[in-house]
Amino acid sequence: MALKDVGNKVPIYKLKTTDEVMKYYDEWGEEDKYNKDMVEWNYTGPKETVDIFNKYTLNKEILIFDAGCGTGLVGLELKKYGYKNFHGADLSQKLLDTIPQNLYQKLIKADLNKPIEIKDDFYDSVMCVGTFTFGHVKPQALNEFVRITKKNGLICFTINEGIYMEYGFDKKIDTLKKEGKWKELEFFKSDYIASKNVNAWLGLYKVNK
Ligand SMILES: C[S@@+](CC[C@H](N)C(=O)[O-])C[C@H]1O[C@@H](n2cnc3c(N)ncnc32)[C@H](O)[C@@H]1O
Repeated sequence: MALKDVGNKVPIYKLKTTDEVMKYYDEWGEEDKYNKDMVEWNYTGPKETVDIFNKYTLNKEILIFDAGCGTGLVGLELKKYGYKNFHGADLSQKLLDTIPQNLYQKLIKADLNKPIEIKDDFYDSVMCVGTFTFGHVKPQALNEFVRITKKNGLICFTINEGIYMEYGFDKKIDTLKKEGKWKELEFFKSDYIASKNVNAWLGLYKVNK
């Protein structure tokens, strides 16, 4: 079956370097433009992901890391479900600055393609929504997510369908399974940005270590 050409549906999919990505988001955050566009595009990634995550999580007190938190759309969903403790990290300081006060307990500017400055087994769970996409964060980050997550914690993420195989996410997910680092609980094609005919794989994994 021919693959959908997803790479030309959204301007960010043309970005190549981390610098280009950062500049683009810094500008996109101005005058609330990113959030407005996400409403207009009916971007359902944050809601879909938190919905699934919530089905497997009973304890609302857990500490969650939102990797690539952007303007905090995942944090808003987590809050709706009653979660209280979450930290966010993003490459764009401008986007971090737009996040409503006190939504996250801690925010850090970080390039997730580099080792994350967080201790092993620090978080109960990791969420990463919309950040595994063209020119953004590479599969290697999944090793870091496993490292910073406690045993039996959950890692929940989307991967844009256009890069899933091209960037080697399929292989990385499989390797982590074979090495016994995590166990698959969910993996399916989600709506994501259906208005633009762009879908994403949504994965939920339980960390074994
Ligand atoms: C499509 S947005 C998703 C933001 C948010 N999670 C959401 O669902 O609205 C992708 C985010 O990834 C961030 N990003 C891109 N490359 C990154 C990197 N190398 N390290 C950290 N964040 C990165 C961008 O700044 C942007 O906030």
